[in-house]
Amino acid sequence: MAKLAVNVDHIATVRQARRTIEPDPVVAAAIAELAGAEGIIIHLREDRRHIQDRDLHILKQTVKTKLNLEMAATEEMIRIACQTKPEMVTLVPEKREELTTEGGLDISRKPLLKKAITTLKKDGILVSLFINPEPADVKVSRGLGADFVEIHTGRYADAQNEAEKEQELSRIRKAVETAHRLKLRINAGHGLNYINIKPLVAWPEIEEFSIGHSIIARAVLVGMERAVKEMLALIRQG
Ligand code: PXP
Repeated sequence: MAKLAVNVDHIATVRQARRTIEPDPVVAAAIAELAGAEGIIIHLREDRRHIQDRDLHILKQTVKTKLNLEMAATEEMIRIACQTKPEMVTLVPEKREELTTEGGLDISRKPLLKKAITTLKKDGILVSLFINPEPADVKVSRGLGADFVEIHTGRYADAQNEAEKEQELSRIRKAVETAHRLKLRINAGHGLNYINIKPLVAWPEIEEFSIGHSIIARAVLVGMERAVKEMLALIRQG
């Protein structure tokens, strides 16, 4: 059965709106774990718009399941990851002006990605590449030595009608099948919510769903524990 890893960036977004100390993503992560989440994810962005270095350092000491650090493949981030040693790093593209990660990695930047993967793996960190649902990108990820690929589900989540949704689902399906054949471990995420996750939970190849915004949005209204438990119940139906 797939696992649920909860991204707590947007708890930090609310905190940073006032540059105060609450709400604390460290507390949110602990509640998410108590509710059954099997991993905690944070994205330390170059501009530190939500998660701060302090969050990473404390979460490294307090997360009991698995800490997955999303980051760009920059020298600064690789240094921070190698010093902190989260269980896993997911390499993502990053643009300053974007509201959220917009697309998968530009997989043609092979030397840069290869260097990042080699350095991180040497320190015992599992490496995942956040990629568009393209079999070609999956194959390159395998060649680069990634442990996981995280298949970008954003275009599926943004589909405007049933036909588009089916088309995007079938792109994701092909990427998942390719990754499975190549023995890559598979995560999926971006834009997933309590409704659009339903077709994906039936796919046994997906090891973990990475979900942030929809869970935090619900948590604001009903509480973190209930929001996590409701998502877990959907995943477990698969
Ligand atoms: N996976 C990756 C690589 C991401 O960058 C994000 C957004 O931080 C997510 C998953 C989670 O996306 P969402 O917040 O839309 O659930």
